[in-house]
Amino acid sequence: MTDRFLPYGRHQVDEDDIDAVVSVLREGALTCGPKVDEFEKAFAEAVGAKEAVVCSNGTTALHLAAMALDLSPGDAVIVPTVTFLSTANAVRMTGADVVFADVCPDTGLLTPESLAEAFLKKDVNVKAVFPVHLNGQCADIQAIREVTVNHDAAVVTDCCHALGAEYVSERSGRPGDGQLEDLACFSLHPVKSIAMGEGGVVTTSRPEVAGRLRLLRGQGMVRDPALWLDKEAGFSPNGEPNPWYYEMHELSYNYRATDMQCALGLSQLKKLPAFVGRRREIADIYQGHLQSNNVVTPIPRTSTANSAWHLYPVLIDFEASGKCREQVMRELADLGVGTQVHYVPVSSQPYYKDLYGDQVFAGAEEYYRRVLSLPIFPAMTDDDVAHVVDSLERVLR
Ligand SMILES: Cc1ncc(COP(=O)(O)O)c(C=O)c1O
Repeated sequence: MTDRFLPYGRHQVDEDDIDAVVSVLREGALTCGPKVDEFEKAFAEAVGAKEAVVCSNGTTALHLAAMALDLSPGDAVIVPTVTFLSTANAVRMTGADVVFADVCPDTGLLTPESLAEAFLKKDVNVKAVFPVHLNGQCADIQAIREVTVNHDAAVVTDCCHALGAEYVSERSGRPGDGQLEDLACFSLHPVKSIAMGEGGVVTTSRPEVAGRLRLLRGQGMVRDPALWLDKEAGFSPNGEPNPWYYEMHELSYNYRATDMQCALGLSQLKKLPAFVGRRREIADIYQGHLQSNNVVTPIPRTSTANSAWHLYPVLIDFEASGKCREQVMRELADLGVGTQVHYVPVSSQPYYKDLYGDQVFAGAEEYYRRVLSLPIFPAMTDDDVAHVVDSLERVLR
């Protein structure tokens, strides 16, 4: 039994993480310094990608990916409606349209069938699909890829929940390793697999795409003399590149991450296997304890991946329990158990309803009606997990 409040997610920062950040503050460049390259190399290695480009957060990672696809007004991208706002917003920020797709009512994941249905929408020019590896479980990317090849659409995975997951279907590998996705986007927000405060990464197997992403994250500013367009302005009469000179070829943003963030990320990355390992143990304990309860169903596990368990959702038949979700959340909070709902379907947000009208997605509605995320984070003890299970049983009894 625990006497502390258990939030649905929490970062774990140890003394060595603090030391890593402090040493940058004492000695290093605060931004655009060596920790950025070091972190990118370590991250690429951790997921098995050729290239990793770090940026300020998961939302900007998704926006950079959308810009790298040259999305613009008149284009469309298919996005599952059960996700965080950013997946759809990143598309809209390019001026392209979002075609929402339904999800599996039990896992919340985009399925090849719901994707194929979204492709049937008329009068849209679908350039890409952004599947979301919700909760740390993975959408069946191989099957999704088989649908997208017929439509010549790029696949950008939203891996914000899935750092540390593994594909286990016909081929092994990790989300973001670039074998099935064109681009993968990660978030390193504190509740995610590792914490950087704010942080994001885009991975790709194509060095030229990584180069473009690096330009886009820094105002589109080109410092490499080999790429300059205005030779007269860029080079001195003796042919040397002018040391002050830079060029801008396309409009972009400042989406950089600092060296302090990257130092924290580097330190945290070393703990990724241990963090995800502990999340898996907790998920197993939950699954073992919750199986006998017929009001609560543990989220079904997909066969195509080993989850990173960013979240641990259960599906609750609130009607059968005789309590509404708000009451259940409040009573759990009174017992020290924090919960959350991931997510309100994005297509039902007023902004998107104004744009695209009322849309009904039966699978998403069924998932949203039942889902509740229980606490899961590496520092949870077995007793904490038992306390959550007991509390849930008490509240739903
Ligand atoms: C599925 C998903 N996509 C994108 C994001 C955006 O990441 P960030 O908060 O780092 O911008 C999040 C963050 O919670 C997320 O859960």
